[in-house]
Amino acid sequence: MRKQDVPPFTALFPNPALLVSCGTFENPNIITIAWASTVCRDPPMVSIAMTPSRYSYNLILENKDFVINLPRASDVEKVDLCGNISGRNHSKFDVCDFTIERSTKVNSPRIKECPISIECYLDKTIHIGSHDLFIGQIVNVAIDSSILKNNAPDLDNMDILVYTQGQYYAIGDIIGSYGFSLKNRNI
Ligand SMILES: Cc1cc2nc3c(=O)[nH]c(=O)nc-3n(C[C@H](O)[C@H](O)[C@H](O)COP(=O)(O)O)c2cc1C
Repeated sequence: MRKQDVPPFTALFPNPALLVSCGTFENPNIITIAWASTVCRDPPMVSIAMTPSRYSYNLILENKDFVINLPRASDVEKVDLCGNISGRNHSKFDVCDFTIERSTKVNSPRIKECPISIECYLDKTIHIGSHDLFIGQIVNVAIDSSILKNNAPDLDNMDILVYTQGQYYAIGDIIGSYGFSLKNRNI
């Protein structure tokens, strides 16, 4: 392998393709987010990176919570749409025919058709540059009971969606499981 240096760019991938719902049950919005990550296990925390010009940005700052919904790969067209139109001009729940569902712990509503909804309180906002980081504390996770196995989602049945460098992918075969490398190496 021979590597070539290229100018710095956002080269970390794959990213998830997520639907973040925000606002209130009466005035909800959805924004597609790819720059998101788990940042802490205890307490369970996540981050989403958002440009301040997004309509969702002030909704989250005002309401101090948001929900990260993991969509099914079969909903990829709606995921793309929520990332290409603004809640300033469109009711995305209506346009996408998504069902608004009340969250258990936060005011931002959930998207019923997404198998996993992660409810977060806004903990911190970090100003960075083109994007700011919303750090959220996970206060509830709602999982479609049909994919629940021993209190965790059975990803085989989840139809996960991934976004990488402008392209959407469905996830392929399992090629290993956590710690499997140790068994092969006698360490
Ligand atoms: C696949 C995909 C990923 C995106 N990821 C982000 C992101 O991580 N952060 C962000 O600020 N905008 C992201 N966007 C752009 C917003 O989703 C888009 O500007 C959206 O229309 C904003 O909606 P709003 O104005 O209703 O908040 C992404 C768009 C797409 C299609």
